[in-house]
Parts: sequence; C-alpha cells; structure tokens
Amino acid sequence: MARYPKHQAGVRALKPYVPGTPIEEVQREYGLEDVIKLASNENPLGPSPKAVTAIREALPSLNRYPDGKSHDLACALADTCGVEPEWVIVANGADGIIVQTCLAYLDEGSEVVVSASSFAVYDIFTQIMRARLVKTPLKNYGLDLEAMAEAITPRTRIVFVCNPNNPTGTIVLADEVAAFMERVPDDVLVVFDEAYYEFVDCADYPRSLDYVRQGRANVLVMRTFSKNFGIAGIRLGYAIGAPEILAPLQRVKEPFAVNSLAQVAGVAALEDTDFLDRTLEITRRGRRYLKDQFEELGLETVPSHTNFVLVRIGPEALDVQQALLRRGVIVRPCTAYDLPEFLRVTVGTQDENARMIRALAEVLGD
Ligand SMILES: Cc1ncc(COP(=O)(O)O)c(C=O)c1O
Repeated sequence: MARYPKHQAGVRALKPYVPGTPIEEVQREYGLEDVIKLASNENPLGPSPKAVTAIREALPSLNRYPDGKSHDLACALADTCGVEPEWVIVANGADGIIVQTCLAYLDEGSEVVVSASSFAVYDIFTQIMRARLVKTPLKNYGLDLEAMAEAITPRTRIVFVCNPNNPTGTIVLADEVAAFMERVPDDVLVVFDEAYYEFVDCADYPRSLDYVRQGRANVLVMRTFSKNFGIAGIRLGYAIGAPEILAPLQRVKEPFAVNSLAQVAGVAALEDTDFLDRTLEITRRGRRYLKDQFEELGLETVPSHTNFVLVRIGPEALDVQQALLRRGVIVRPCTAYDLPEFLRVTVGTQDENARMIRALAEVLGD
C-alpha cells in the first residue's frame, strides 16, 4: 500500500469549509445560462466604483511587492475608527484575522468558546490548532452571552462573539455585552466579529470599539470590506485592538498577506460613502421584501440585522435548495450550521429577490 507523508494531527479530522456554490459550477452542472447567487452574502450592486478605479490605476505597479505594513490603509482605517494606526491590523479578509488570531493565541488543549450555529471558520482554525471548541446553544436563534460567559474556564483563550451572527442574522445588545464583559477575565481574548455591523439598524447595538478605545486590552473588533464595499473577491479585512494584542497577530502574518490591489481598493472604498449608502438602502429594502414574501408563503423567518435572511423551510429544506439550484437560484443550506430545516438567503437586487421568491413558490407548490 502506498505510504504518504503524515499530516498535522489537527488537520486529519477536519471537515473543510463549504462555500456557497459558484455561479459557473451551477451553469456547468445544470446546463443553465442565467443563474443568480444569493448564497454568500455578497454585495448585489457589484464592487465600489472607487475601489475599481484605484485597482485599475495600481495595475502597472504589480511587479512590486505590496507594502507589508499596509501603511496607507492602516492610517485610513485608524481615521475612520478613531484610533491610532498602531491599533489597526489589516488582513487577507476577515478570515485572515481569524486565522492569525488562532495561530497567535491557541495552544494544543486550550479552549475557544463559540456559539452553536455561528461562523464556521472559528471552528476550523480552532481544530487545526488542536484546541478544544466549547459550544453553547443558541437562545432564540441568537448568541447566549450568559451561557458563553459560563463556559469560560482557566483554559479559555478566545471567545468569538459574532455580532450580527452568521447564519442567523441576530444581534446581541449593548447591555448584554456589558454584563458579559464584566464576567470575562482579563486574560481571555474577546473577538467581536462585526462583518455585518453596517447593516444593523438598532440603537442598542453595542459600540464594541469603545471597549478598545477605553483600554480593554483583551478586545479585538474585526470587520471586512467584503459585504459593505462589495470587494469580497480581492480579500480584505481588518481588526482594531491594543498594540499588545495585535503584536502576536503581526508576528504570525505572512509577510505580504494583503496584496497591493486590496490595499489601494480599501483606501478608495472608505471614501465611497455614496456606494455604501446605496448598499445599505438596497439591503434594507430587500430584507423587508424577503421577510414579507417568505411570510406570505407561510414561512417563518428570523429577524435579520444583516444582508441575508434565515428562513425555515422544514425537513425538506435540502430538497428545496436543490430544486432551486435546478432553476438557477443558488441559496445556502444550513445543515453544516446545525440548522437543517433552514435556508439562508442573501439580499440581492430587487429582480433577483423577486426571481428567487417566484422559484421558491413554484418549488413549494410542486
Ligand atoms: C461573520 C463573518 N465573519 C467573517 C467573514 C469573512 O469575511 P471576509 O470575506 O473578509 O474573509 C464572514 C464572511 O462571510 C462572515 O460572515
């Protein structure tokens, strides 16, 4: 029998991340031309035009390595977030922040507290580091911060608070977070994953950056350019935290993790407030439309603070997702998130939303 090099123990039992099915794959497999994707919480308006212009202008310099410190972008983000540039780290997507945080803070046997039905990438890199995942159950489809605080032990290194939570779309409120922070020991890192924070319309959404600004040295706030500015393809995310917390993340980072096109795109996108406003507007309108239409079809939804809606289909959710694929509509099944009766549907353009609803009505009618 052939012998192969042994892989790292954390990798052996790993279930890989399953992304939303790409449009091209559905076109190939089902012989369809007109396919829409509402499966990866992408921006339906396309990329920020200012980011695209900046990328075009930077193309002739691609022979040069990028600035390993992402200086200009870190300064622009520092301005936006009201901190000094040393309090900013830029990464290859918010995913890159999760990877670097796990590499920097986890040893074999240390513990990571996460909620059930939360973002899958936390689980994957915790497992790769051979640390132990401690999962608390959902409460009303949202994170149960009391249970998460309860789950902290002397071995806990990180708590991931996904707010808003993917895939449920729920938020935890400022007073819940305040009570939680009272209970978290100083040597446990709290990572607020705010990939969707701009989509939240709620006065009681916590101002997590205030914890950082007020000097809580065990807080990291991470965000992304993928959703708000529509540049998921170029991979750009960042985190804000005390320099002492960021230093280990800087040490484990690949030397040129953030490519030069991403860096200029980020600086330009931050100035594209018009695009951001249009994104928020289409998202608000679309999620109201989806909620109303799902309800008209007799389907329960979870109130969403994001650019996606979680909808309960029932035990046949996977069959419905497959039937939608055959009609050229890609949505996300939630089996891997322990929500097998649900589908997660990204807010698209009005045409895309309406087409998805028509297809769903047809499938449910069959
Ligand atoms: C909650 C959450 N965190 C992080 C990410 C990763 O974002 P990025 O595209 O910047 O890697 C996502 C992407 O979907 C997400 O939903």
